[in-house]
Amino acid sequence: MNSKSVSLKNITKEFTDDQGNKVKAVNDVNLTIEKGEFATLLGPSGCGKTTTLRMIAGFEELSYGDIYFGEQNVKDVAANKRDCTMVFQSYALFPHMSVYENIIYGLKIKKLSDSELDKRVEPVIEIMNLDVHRDKMPNQLSGGQQQRVALARALVMEPSVLLFDEPLSNLDAKLRVTMRDEIRRVQQKVGITAIYVTHDQSEAMSLSDKIVVMNEGRIEQIGSAMEIYQRPTSKFISDFIGSANFLPSKVSQVDSNQLKVIYSNNELLVSQKNAKEFKVGQQVEVVIRPESIHVSDEGDFEGKVVKSAFMGQTQEYELEFNGTILQAVVSNPSGGKIYAEGEKVAISFAQSSLHVVPSA
Ligand SMILES: Nc1ncnc2c1ncn2[C@@H]1O[C@H](COP(=O)(O)OP(=O)(O)OP(=O)(O)O)[C@@H](O)[C@H]1O
Ligand SMILES: [Mg+2]
Repeated sequence: MNSKSVSLKNITKEFTDDQGNKVKAVNDVNLTIEKGEFATLLGPSGCGKTTTLRMIAGFEELSYGDIYFGEQNVKDVAANKRDCTMVFQSYALFPHMSVYENIIYGLKIKKLSDSELDKRVEPVIEIMNLDVHRDKMPNQLSGGQQQRVALARALVMEPSVLLFDEPLSNLDAKLRVTMRDEIRRVQQKVGITAIYVTHDQSEAMSLSDKIVVMNEGRIEQIGSAMEIYQRPTSKFISDFIGSANFLPSKVSQVDSNQLKVIYSNNELLVSQKNAKEFKVGQQVEVVIRPESIHVSDEGDFEGKVVKSAFMGQTQEYELEFNGTILQAVVSNPSGGKIYAEGEKVAISFAQSSLHVVPSA
């Protein structure tokens, strides 16, 4: 497949709201998605994901900026002439056509010969495991099967870029997981550039080479799932991706890749690549993931169990630590000591698991 990179250069979209005010739904977004890469736009409702995707597809005009597919500036290219296809949340299959007829619909319009048509369609039917369903009508298919047909219909067009806007949100939780694995498998097999919109962090983490976190029309951070989870650049991101505890602290020392911070008379040492971006005296938050907290009889700090719940695979605690309530998750609790509500405990953190972000 002839996939292409996609570059967004300073793209902005202004809408006029009910009061006649201009609102920037997308605000100066810069982003490059490499050829064959799977990128996900992730962020809360209203942050501008769909608007960004619609500008890439050509359904929405840009207020400012440029969009490139490979070397070509497509800003003024009509949607139906752009080399991309969008898969929607509602599969929008034609109810009176069979699976096979639905899949070839777009190709029929292109007036391909029968042999050319077969050459394109048969491999897609095979890759999407739709052979047994080819003569069925859409109402004889489950939601997941219908979404597979919608994906097949997009793939036979052999676009350079495949766009998805929350394609799985109509499916139940279990099917969502199966389908997202399917989408990833197919994307890798055909090597197509994919841009996927979701507000579901686990979907983004499992699918993407690159996650683009958006907030209020802007990009907040770009990185792999691991980079964003382990080294979030803001309080918003730490909270949005996974769960996080925050210790309000003050920077007391800045070294080249390490910070010392004071949290309520406790000194914490934090390894941090971008340490130099912080200043002594600055108010910050130390981010601690629930699974990075060790609870034991002897450790660095004193805390108290406020809540203790056995969840089978984990023990979940709420710990009071100098005025902050920390959520802690301990794996395999049956193998170790379990602390009860009201007990004093020792708390420690692996230094490598601590991370500092500016106070919001
Ligand atoms: N046609 C429009 N006219 C006016 N405002 C719009 C229009 N389309 C979108 N907006 C506004 O732009 C902002 C971004 O909307 P967008 O649909 O891109 O968000 P989203 O991130 O896709 O959200 P969701 O997760 O809810 O789908 C919102 O504040 C929305 O109200
Ligand atoms: Mg949307």
